[in-house]
Amino acid sequence: MRLPSRGSRDDAVGPGRGRPGVVSFRVIEGGRDRPDLPGLLVVGAREIVTMAGGPRMGSSQGDVGRREEPDAAVAIWAGRIVGVGGRADVERIVEAAGYSLDLFATLDAGGGAVTPGLVDPHTHLLFAGSREGELELRQQGAGYLEILAAGGGILSTVAATREASAEELTAHGRRWLDEMLSHGVTTIEAKSGYGLDLPTELRLLEVAHALGAEGPVEVVPTWLGAHAVPPELRGRPNATETYVRSLLEEQLPGVAAQGRAVAADVFCEEGVFTADQSRRVLEAAAAFGMRPRLHADELAPSGGAELAAEIGATSADHLATPSEAGIDALAAAAADGHPVVATLLPATTWFLMKDHHAPARTFIDRGVPVAIGTDFNPGTSPTPSLPLAMTAACLNLRMTPDEVLAGVTINAAQALGLADEIGSLEAGKGGDLVIWNVPTSRQIPYWPAADLVRTVIKRGAIVLDRPS
Ligand code: NIG
Ligand code: FE
Repeated sequence: MRLPSRGSRDDAVGPGRGRPGVVSFRVIEGGRDRPDLPGLLVVGAREIVTMAGGPRMGSSQGDVGRREEPDAAVAIWAGRIVGVGGRADVERIVEAAGYSLDLFATLDAGGGAVTPGLVDPHTHLLFAGSREGELELRQQGAGYLEILAAGGGILSTVAATREASAEELTAHGRRWLDEMLSHGVTTIEAKSGYGLDLPTELRLLEVAHALGAEGPVEVVPTWLGAHAVPPELRGRPNATETYVRSLLEEQLPGVAAQGRAVAADVFCEEGVFTADQSRRVLEAAAAFGMRPRLHADELAPSGGAELAAEIGATSADHLATPSEAGIDALAAAAADGHPVVATLLPATTWFLMKDHHAPARTFIDRGVPVAIGTDFNPGTSPTPSLPLAMTAACLNLRMTPDEVLAGVTINAAQALGLADEIGSLEAGKGGDLVIWNVPTSRQIPYWPAADLVRTVIKRGAIVLDRPS
């Protein structure tokens, strides 16, 4: 066995670099504030991980496009990337494209690693209340679906969320988006699903949209009306089918008319919604232009992976317990050129104390693109930290740090239908990037729960800055 080389003292840059604080549109050179300049030149990076070349799958899952030129640089003009590489080359590209270097402010990355801004492809950002009591119930042996069947779980969050005003949900959303930003996240997906009635679902989607418009973190709203059967229908004969009909006839048309949801999701799981019910909801939503995605095979094989492949879902999420046929279906879809992103959520498996994990290595071996998300929610994954989920992906899913980084950048962008816009550092893409207080991105999952972010840039603007 060949031992890896020891990191030098210099490579052991530690965490803890002051308090987070959002700094809007401030560009610094030699102490000067230059928010007026349209260009930004990030220089002095030890490495730049570009992720250039589109979504990763199979043997390319861990191919991150790492550039290690001395003094690596990225140039951004009016929010879009114009060049990436060695500083001298980037300056030549900038000038050849007709831009004057005088109009670029320079930001020194201080020997840190630069990556694309992280993308969290699966969150339940907006809810009210908390459910710490369920942690103790589960420690005593209660099952997640058992707690839900007894009226707790998702339903207790639904009761609190229905009571919450748009202002309260906005304040909650801002607080957690700030946390996500401080962990290097520049885009997230945010699901509804804690209303289960039209007014609350619309409120959640409107707040998600407004938070994204406010920035700096971009928010992609997803309608998850089919998250659970609402309390007012429970106990009735055919309650699930009654709710599915009301989703199709009332909630979905209302959500479509509002126009905020860009995707639709269903909790397709034994004892929640069947694959057939999920298909009906997702096909109806697709007819309104909402991209289909689903919570699939989280707790038991439920036909979710098969359904995702059959309907051409953008993403199938969780997949901790897919059937062999489900894995085959996802592999066949990828081989046919219609890949469904397997969005794996290892922080959830960890927090639910499961010892059975999503078969990430099998997905990679079978050519299925893998993304990683937090699943941030008050029941099964109350962490806003995508880097922590990255560590869990390394430890429990046995993915390499490079494979995981592809999973939280270009593949996560693909799960949101945004791979042409974000998720990589290449000319023409949005200027979203993170400067880390470590010299290589391979250290991001290696320091679990550490504050490693030095600077976050969203569309060319410095939105978080805590230089060492
Ligand atoms: O992704 N499994 C369904 N939905 C969420 C949990 C929601 C909750 O417990 O509040 C999940 O794990
Ligand atoms: Fe979820």
